[in-house]
Amino acid sequence: MSKTFQRTLITSALPYANGPVHIGHLAGVYIPADIYARYLRLKGEEVLFIGGSDEHGVPIALKARAEGVTPQEIVDRYHFLIKKSFEDFGITFDIYSRTTSSIHRKTASDFFQKLYDKGEFIEKTSEQYYDEEAKQFLADRYITGKCPYCGNEKAYGDQCETCGTSLSPLDLIEPKSAISGSVPVLKETKHWYLPLDKHEAWLKKWILEDHKEWKSNVYGQCKSWLDMGLQPRAVSRDLDWGVPVPLKGAEGKVLYVWFDAPIGYISNTIEHSPADWEKWWKDETTRLIHFIGKDNIVFHCIVFPAMLKADGSYILPDNVPANEFLNLEGDKISTSRNWAVWLHEYLEEFPDKQDVLRYVLTANAPETKDNDFTWKDFQARNNNELVAVLGNFINRSMVLTHKYFEGKVPARGALTDYDRETFLEFERVKVEMENYLNQFRFREALKEAMNLARIGNKYLADTEPWKSAKTDTNRTATILNLSMQITANLAIAIEPFLPFSSQKIKHLIAKSDSKWSQLGSIDLLKEGHNLNEPELLFEKIEDELIERQIQKLLDTKKVNALKEKRANPIKAPVSYDDFAKLDIRVGKVLECMKVPKADKLLQFKIDDGLGGRTILSGIAASYRPEELIGKTVCFIANLEPRKIKGIESQGMLLSAESFAGNLRLIHPDANLEPGSEVS
Ligand code: 2FM
Ligand code: ZN
Repeated sequence: MSKTFQRTLITSALPYANGPVHIGHLAGVYIPADIYARYLRLKGEEVLFIGGSDEHGVPIALKARAEGVTPQEIVDRYHFLIKKSFEDFGITFDIYSRTTSSIHRKTASDFFQKLYDKGEFIEKTSEQYYDEEAKQFLADRYITGKCPYCGNEKAYGDQCETCGTSLSPLDLIEPKSAISGSVPVLKETKHWYLPLDKHEAWLKKWILEDHKEWKSNVYGQCKSWLDMGLQPRAVSRDLDWGVPVPLKGAEGKVLYVWFDAPIGYISNTIEHSPADWEKWWKDETTRLIHFIGKDNIVFHCIVFPAMLKADGSYILPDNVPANEFLNLEGDKISTSRNWAVWLHEYLEEFPDKQDVLRYVLTANAPETKDNDFTWKDFQARNNNELVAVLGNFINRSMVLTHKYFEGKVPARGALTDYDRETFLEFERVKVEMENYLNQFRFREALKEAMNLARIGNKYLADTEPWKSAKTDTNRTATILNLSMQITANLAIAIEPFLPFSSQKIKHLIAKSDSKWSQLGSIDLLKEGHNLNEPELLFEKIEDELIERQIQKLLDTKKVNALKEKRANPIKAPVSYDDFAKLDIRVGKVLECMKVPKADKLLQFKIDDGLGGRTILSGIAASYRPEELIGKTVCFIANLEPRKIKGIESQGMLLSAESFAGNLRLIHPDANLEPGSEVS
C-alpha cells in the first residue's frame, strides 16, 4: 500500500570542501535536486531542501598538509566559494551549512554515542601501519609500496593503479609512509564497526522487494552489494581531523567521514528548524529523498539507512535518485588535473547565463548513463533551442501583441478547431511533465516544457496573425491572446528548470504569481492586461566565445601533459654481468585473453620455441586481446614464475610506456623464430 506523505525532505550530497564546484556537481546532484524542490514548492507542497559542505576526511587533511596550512583554513576557503556558486546558479537550499559547525559536531557525536550505548557497534582490534616519525596511523592512501601482483613500485595501500588490483596496505611490499617517507610499523589499534551483516536481511527486503521502483542504476548497484553479502564497516579512523569519537580511551580517533557526513543532513535540519526538526526526520508522513551521484549509492542506500535503523527513531529514504557521471569533452572530470568547467569561472565568461548552463546540463543530464559535456553542444543547444525555439516564440508573441494591440492582451473571440487542438496539446504537456517529474526524469520533463514553445511557434506559423491583421482583427486578437496564454504557461513550465528566465518572462507579462495548478489554463492573462516592453530572453553565442573555452581546455591538456611528461630518473647502474643474467627471448602470441576480475591484466599463451608458456601482463588498458594474436614479442624468459590471480605467469613481456600511460609492446623489426635470443 502506498503511503500518504505530507511533506518532502530533499537532501543533496554534501560536496567535499577541498575544491570549487564544477559542472559535474551541478548536473549530477544539485540541478536535479533543485528542479525537484522548485517543482514541489510550485505545487504548494511543504518542502525542506538541505545542502552543506562535507569538511572532514583524509583528502582535506592531506591537502592542508601539502599546503602547510590547517584543514580549517582549507575548508573555510572552499565552503564559501561553493556556497556562493550555488547561490549564483539559483540552487534554492533552505539551508547550506557545514560539517565543522558546532551543531553538527554535537549531533554526530550524540548519534555515535546512542548507537554505542545501544550496543549497535562491534569493537575490533587490528594491526595497522603507523608512521613513527609523523606519530600517526596511516590511512590506506597514505601508504605506498610495491604491488605484489605486477611489481609496480608506486602502488597505494588501497589499490595498484598499474594492474588495477584492489589491495590492502598489508599486501604492499616495502611499504613507505607518504607523509614522512619512513618505513611504517604495524601497531594495534581499536575501532568501532557497524555490523552491516546483521542488517542484511531487512535491507534486502526493504530495497529488493519494497523499492523496485528505484532507478535501475541504483537498484542494480544495491542488488550487487547485497548479493555479495555485507561485512562490518569501521566507523572510526585514527586521524586528527574530524568529529572526535566521544568515548574514553578514544583519543586520536575520529568518526569516519562517511559516518559523520550523512548525519550532516540531520544537523543542518536542526540548525534550520531547531524547534521542529524531528517532524522532518522522525515522522512517517515525511518523504525523504536523497539526491546523489553514483559513487555515493552504497552509503545512502545501505550504510546510512543501517545507521538510521540502528538508532531506531528515524525514517528511511523513500527514494535515492542517483545520477551517473558527466564527462567533459570525452575525459573524466578531475579536480586534481583541472579538467573541469568551474562554476565561478563559467560565470566570468558567461555572465547572467546561468540558465543556459542549467538548460544544457538538464537536457544532457547523465540520468541513466554517463554523458559528455562539449562546448559545441552547449553552443548548439543555446542557439538552436533556447534562442530559436523558446526565446523566439516569446519574443514574437510579445512583439506582435505590441504591434497590433499596443501591448495589451487582446480579447479572445470564438476558437477554431485548430485553436482547440492546440489547446489540447498544451494541456497534455502538463500531464506529461508531471509524469516525468514524479519519476525524476528531468530531461524528458524539460523536453515537454520546450514542446510547449514548439507548439507556440507552430501555432504562430500556421495561423499567421500578421496576415489576418489586415483583414480580420478579431481573428488576430484571438491568436495573440492564445499566444500570450502559452507564454504565461511557459513561465510556469520552465520555472523549475530555468528559474531566471521564468522570472524574466513574468516580468515581460507583468504577472509575478504562478502555481503549478495553473499550467494548462488559457485564462492566465486577462483581456486588457498590460504587458511590459519586449526584451530578448536569450542571445546567440558566437563561435569565438566557444573557441576560447575549447582553447582553455586545450591549454589545460598541454599543462597536464607537460606535468606528466617528465622522464623518470635513471635507476642505479647495473654491471654487464648482472644484465647478462637476464634471458630475453623472442616469442609469438598464440592466445590472448582478459583475466576475469582484473581490469588491467591480459593472459598470453606464448610460443617460445620450447613448447610454450603462459605470461600475464598488465596491458589490458592499451590493447584488445584479439589484436595481439600472431604478434611477435619479446619477453624475459628466466624471471622466477609468479602467481597472479591464481594463474602462474612464466616470464614478463617487454613493453614501453608513453608519458600518457599508454603501454606498447616491444617487437623485433622482423618476425624472428620463437625462442631467438635478445641481447
Ligand atoms: O562524494 C562526496 O563528495 C561526499 N562528500 C558526499 C557526501 S554525501 C553525504 F553523506 F553527506
Ligand atoms: Zn599491480
